[in-house]
Amino acid sequence: MRHVLLLSAAALLLAACGDTGNGNAGTADEPAAATPDPTIPTGVTADEAADAGEDAAEEADTDLPAAQAELPAPYAEADLANGRRQFRRCSSCHTVQAGGPNRVGPNLHGLFSRNAGEVDDFNYSRALQTAGIEWTPDHLDSWLADPRGYIPGNRMSFVGIPDANDRRDVIAYLMIETARE
Ligand code: HEC
Repeated sequence: MRHVLLLSAAALLLAACGDTGNGNAGTADEPAAATPDPTIPTGVTADEAADAGEDAAEEADTDLPAAQAELPAPYAEADLANGRRQFRRCSSCHTVQAGGPNRVGPNLHGLFSRNAGEVDDFNYSRALQTAGIEWTPDHLDSWLADPRGYIPGNRMSFVGIPDANDRRDVIAYLMIETARE
């Protein structure tokens, strides 16, 4: 084991030397330009790396895999990273955390134990107030597939998420995020 570590350290050193020793690595005026950022794995764009860093930071305080394993099918198999990305389409209008503000749309904390139209200080359309549904993953799936068609006359100006996997992923993400204390 020790040998392997030493060997890989040596390999890294060699690689580093190779960089600086490379005649194409830039002129003395601009040595930094040709040196790749060592924190970004090759083949990954800076944007993707930033995203990954952001995701890791957001997940750091929780045991997401354990929380997800407890979700019913098909949500236990959802792609939570994609769910988080999908939620960016909602987050201009909705917050998920306990005590979070209403925006254009109501705060979604505790969604899966709520009836439609139940946040006290949010001014819902009559359509949503009288929808008569309790938010389950199934109802949310239908709502997100076609918000206008599912509860006609509601005021959520959002076209919907046509892809079933994207809906599964964002619903799994919401099942976890809206249930945090
Ligand atoms: C442009 C703003 C906007 C976007 C984007 C948006 N919503 Fe909404 N949402 C609203 C509004 C406004 C309402 C209330 C509608 C009404 O009263 O008729 C609402 C209502 C809801 C409700 C019902 C809440 C309750 O208390 O009954 C859910 C669930 C919901 N949105 C989820 C989502 C999700 C998930 C997304 C993203 C995939 C999303 N929304 C995107 C504005 C938005």
